[in-house]
Amino acid sequence: MRSQSTFFHDVVLENSRQILRRGIAVTSVVMAMAMLYPNEAFPLFGLSEGENKPQESSPAIPPEYRDKHMPKGWRTDPKVLATGKAIYEGTANADVNCAGCHGIDGKPTRKGRGAPDLSDPQEAQKSDAMWFWEISEGKRRTKMQGHARHLTEQQRWQVIAYMRTFGQSTM
Ligand code: HEC
Repeated sequence: MRSQSTFFHDVVLENSRQILRRGIAVTSVVMAMAMLYPNEAFPLFGLSEGENKPQESSPAIPPEYRDKHMPKGWRTDPKVLATGKAIYEGTANADVNCAGCHGIDGKPTRKGRGAPDLSDPQEAQKSDAMWFWEISEGKRRTKMQGHARHLTEQQRWQVIAYMRTFGQSTM
């Protein structure tokens, strides 16, 4: 009995102490890395959201969307903006009604709860390519559906150009 408990003390306890010490060392390294690279360490929890750099904490745009650009001059083209408005408000196509959730003025309605307030320039800082991707494919596990089937690429750019005007009145 006695020799057994000595064995327990010497081998088992000593081993578990070593494991514990190593565990603490590994945990410290991981935590240090997480503090140095918060965006990489916590992308899923969105812990870095709300900082001044939303583009960095956003998920990476898939390659097929990364190089998409709004056609030149569209941002201020009155015809483009009028068409975008009609799409956004559901008057162009009743199956597509962004305003039903995002609000006529970019402030989310009850149905669009969780959507960012697009009239707040801080909230609307994501790149055009990011928005184009989100509008095309939707966002998983949210009410935001993909609209690639309902809207041509041109129409998606028109609606983005229009959505970009929401934040401007307050600037
Ligand atoms: C059924 C409600 C609903 C409809 C309809 C809808 N959205 Fe959304 N949308 C949302 C919600 C909710 C989010 C936030 C998703 C999340 O949790 O990230 C969102 C997010 C977005 C974003 C990302 C904004 C950002 O900066 O994070 C864009 C862009 C967007 N929607 C554009 C559109 C456009 C354009 C249409 C119409 C073609 C549309 N949405 C229709 C609910 C909706």
